[in-house]
Amino acid sequence: MTSLSGKGARRRPLWDIPTRVFHWTLVCLLPLAWWSADQQRFEVHQWVGYTLLVLVLSRVLWGIVGSRHSRFADFLVGPAAITRYVQGGGARSPGHNPLGGWSVTLLLTLLLAQAVSGLFNSDDILFSGPLYYWATSDIQDAMGVVHEVVFNTLLALVSLHVIAVCYYQLHRREKLIQAMIKGSAQGKEGLAPAVSTWRLVPILLLVSCGLWLLFAQAPGPVYLGF
Ligand code: HEM
Ligand code: HEM
Repeated sequence: MTSLSGKGARRRPLWDIPTRVFHWTLVCLLPLAWWSADQQRFEVHQWVGYTLLVLVLSRVLWGIVGSRHSRFADFLVGPAAITRYVQGGGARSPGHNPLGGWSVTLLLTLLLAQAVSGLFNSDDILFSGPLYYWATSDIQDAMGVVHEVVFNTLLALVSLHVIAVCYYQLHRREKLIQAMIKGSAQGKEGLAPAVSTWRLVPILLLVSCGLWLLFAQAPGPVYLGF
C-alpha cells in the first residue's frame, strides 16, 4: 500500500474528524458516568448519560452516511472473511480488521443498551430517568438489572479493547493510536476522501430533538395529593 503524506493524508484520513471526536469523547465520558453514579451525583450522571446516548446514536447514523472507513459496510464482514483473517489472510480494508469491526459493533450496542436502560432507571430515592414512569414495575426492575449487568460487561470489553489495541500497537507495530488521534499514520491511511463534517449537523439535530420530543411525551410521577 502506498503511503500518503501531508495534504493527501489529511484529505483521505483513515478516521474522519467525527469518528475521532466521538472516540475520545467516549473515553472521557465513560469514566465520568461511572464516577457520577458511584457518587450518587445524578444531576451530573443524567447529562453524561444523555450525551453518551446522543453520541452513540449519531455514530450509528455516521456508520451509514459517514466517510468510507467509518461505515459499517466497510468493517462488518461475514464468517468467511473472518476465518481468512484469523488464518493470516490479512484484512481487505485498512480500517477496523474483521474481528475489530464486530467488537466495535458490540461495544456500540452495549453502550446503547446502557444509555437506554438508564432512561428507565431510578435510584429509588430522588432521581428517576425520563422514561421511568412510562414503564411497568417489571420493566423498571429489568432495566435496573440491565443497567448494572451491561456496565460490567462493558468494563470487560473495554479492557479487552485496550489490550488488543496495545498488542497491535506494540507487538505488531501498527500505528493505531496515532491514526485515531491524527486521522492517519504511516501504514494507516484511508482509501477515499472524507465526507464533509457538516453532514453531522442534521444528524445531531435529528437525534437530540427526537430524544427531547420523546422525553417531553413521557409521564411524570403521579402525586396522590395527601
Ligand atoms: C472508555 C474506553 C474506550 C471505549 C468505550 C472505546 C471505544 C472504541 C470504539 C467504539 C471504537 C470504534 C471507533 C469507531 O469506529 O467509531 C474504538 C476504536 C479504537 N480505540 Fe477505543 N475505546 C476506549 C478506550 C481506548 C483507549 C484508552 C485507547 C488507546 C490506548 C483506544 C484506542 C482505540 C483505537 C486505536 C481504535 C481504532 C482501532 C482500529 O484501528 O481498528 N481506545 N474504541
Ligand atoms: C452510557 C451511559 C451510562 C452509563 C455508562 C451509566 C453508568 C451507570 C453506572 C455504572 C451505574 C451504577 C450501577 C448501578 O447501580 O446500576 C449507574 C446507575 C444509575 N444510572 Fe446510569 N449510566 C448511563 C446512562 C444513564 C442515563 C441516561 C440515566 C438516566 C437519565 C441513568 C440513570 C441511572 C440511575 C438512576 C442509576 C442508579 C440506579 C440504582 O441506584 O440502582 N444512567 N449508571
